[in-house]
Amino acid sequence: MWAEFAESYGLVVHRWSTSWEHDASADELAELLDAHPKTRGVTVAYGDTSTGVANDVAGVSRIARQHGALMMVDAVSSLGGMPFLFDEWDVDVAVTASQKCLMSSPGLAWVAMSDRAWSAEKTSRLPRNYWTFVDIKKNISRPRPETPGTPPVQIVLQVAEALRMMHEEGLANVYARHDALSRRAREGTAALGLAPQCETLKHRSTTLSALALPDHVNPKAFRDRIKAQGILTAAGLGRYESHGFRIGHMGDIRMTDVERTLAAVASALRETTAVA
Ligand SMILES: Cc1ncc(COP(=O)(O)O)c(C=O)c1O
Repeated sequence: MWAEFAESYGLVVHRWSTSWEHDASADELAELLDAHPKTRGVTVAYGDTSTGVANDVAGVSRIARQHGALMMVDAVSSLGGMPFLFDEWDVDVAVTASQKCLMSSPGLAWVAMSDRAWSAEKTSRLPRNYWTFVDIKKNISRPRPETPGTPPVQIVLQVAEALRMMHEEGLANVYARHDALSRRAREGTAALGLAPQCETLKHRSTTLSALALPDHVNPKAFRDRIKAQGILTAAGLGRYESHGFRIGHMGDIRMTDVERTLAAVASALRETTAVA
């Protein structure tokens, strides 16, 4: 996604760690940046929703810094569910959105920028039009903050409530809950004979589980059976579309929800195996 955005601005993009089966490799990045020393920015997804990996942002960021490149992180499916240390990890740009761990309708996104990123924005010659960070900053820095365009105020209210809920629970407890939910989802699905979609990943996101289905199970029919029990799962992506599915356990999800999902997965597996 980052690569396509950058290419649409005419930037030269060198793709790195593109294998879905492995975590983003800091060593591979170091080699790439040695080979392309003019690289100005490095992008990575913290939690990747397609594979379920949780990349080592701190490790990647260290390499980006050593090579003088800005570190830009997609935290869309991770921020609010997993610890994310913008300052300690020396991140320059982080992006997230309202519809994942922030438990609200889709439609709002946030960007956090370091002083280094602001300096780069000042000197960058890339085209800007409707979306300009400088205008946004000017408007939100007024005594009565505004946005340059019309904001979806209903989502601002939703996210305000979501943040209140998260602070009431306590951020450490929110992270611990996601951790416990993901461990239970993995143990429970493993007990049903389901392997993770990408078995060789070192670190997994606690906000979702991407799982592989046995060859004889048709993913659409399987997910329809789960849906008939009132539970929505997501399809596998890319080459996992034909034999994977994903369980989201981010946001306002409790252990009872995971248990219900595991029971629905078990019965859908039994039914699809019976008709196979
Ligand atoms: C990690 C990650 N990045 C980016 C996106 C794209 O977000 P949107 O659908 O709001 O464009 C998603 C959406 O699922 C995501 O999971």
